[in-house]
Amino acid sequence: MRLSEVPTPALTVEMGAFERNLARMHDFFSDRPCDVRPHVKAHKTPAIAERQRAAGGVGFCCATVYEAEVFADHGFDDLLIANEICDPTKIARLRVLAERVRLIVAVDSEASVDLLAGTDLDVLVDVNVGMPRCGVPPSEAVAVARAAEASGLHVRGVMGYEGHVTVMEDVARRAEATRKSMDVLLAVGDDLRASSFDVGIVSAGSTLTYDVTGAIDGITEVQAGSYALMDTTFSRSSPFEEALGCLTTVLAVHDNIAVLDAGLKTLSLDHGNPELPNDVPADVLYLSDEHTTLVIREEFDAKPGDRVFLRPSHVDPTVNLHDVLYAFRGDDVEDVWTVAARGYGRP
Ligand SMILES: Cc1ncc(COP(=O)(O)O)c(C=O)c1O
Repeated sequence: MRLSEVPTPALTVEMGAFERNLARMHDFFSDRPCDVRPHVKAHKTPAIAERQRAAGGVGFCCATVYEAEVFADHGFDDLLIANEICDPTKIARLRVLAERVRLIVAVDSEASVDLLAGTDLDVLVDVNVGMPRCGVPPSEAVAVARAAEASGLHVRGVMGYEGHVTVMEDVARRAEATRKSMDVLLAVGDDLRASSFDVGIVSAGSTLTYDVTGAIDGITEVQAGSYALMDTTFSRSSPFEEALGCLTTVLAVHDNIAVLDAGLKTLSLDHGNPELPNDVPADVLYLSDEHTTLVIREEFDAKPGDRVFLRPSHVDPTVNLHDVLYAFRGDDVEDVWTVAARGYGRP
């Protein structure tokens, strides 16, 4: 298939940028004690995970039980659900899953531990390292670990996601904040060891902190996700390239307005509007359900039927809107990848 034959709107992956992103991330870790455990929530696509595994990814992170089930079905057998699972229907599914893959789940409170009691699962104590989301306050981590062991769970280590630093575009400031967060996590690891826990895993990190977190002694794995596809938000302060694009068709041109066939059902706007390639003389005005309206400059002779790429602002929720990704090189579509783990599955 040629790119010109792809039905729009379509999410695309430019293979050159994608392969350079994988090489950049995985080469960084090739001679370090720390590993990359790629986070599949960014792409939900087994074909991408296969390439990450071939590049050196050691196991995978998931955010949802459905992601873990889908990736297990595709032969991925070392999965960390880097998230708390508190829905009883999903806890029942975890038991089934743990019988066929190496599964670890995050816990961050005695209450979340109680819900998993009797499952015999491996767990990581999820520690708040500065981001107001899940994660136990550091001073309470040992109590959670003790509660986990008392409930028949097996504590394998700790995790801490320093997501609050990813909004810092100043790289030096971000690095400093990252080190502070990792000091917190490492100290909790030491607390657990002092209480006789075997802390084999210290899991942290992300696309924007991989080179800082991944170089710290004692961190055993980095949970990076966006680096493979990348968006306009993260590419502003990172060496990774935007491989993800959204191919659209021009529907209408009136005066200085052009309208594209991709809208809110195609692109997530939580990190802002999509952007246009530098050589397109226009600006995004706004998006509605099925349309993007552009304000065009005089030199842009757009006409209905023309193709225009948009650059998405946030990988994860955008990919989750799509059934497939078109992997292309030049004008050739090399593959159509299924976004197999999108959504939450059916009961
Ligand atoms: C628990 C956890 N780990 C790691 C990440 C890193 O993701 P990314 O590399 O896309 O920034 C995220 C992203 O939200 C996350 O929630």
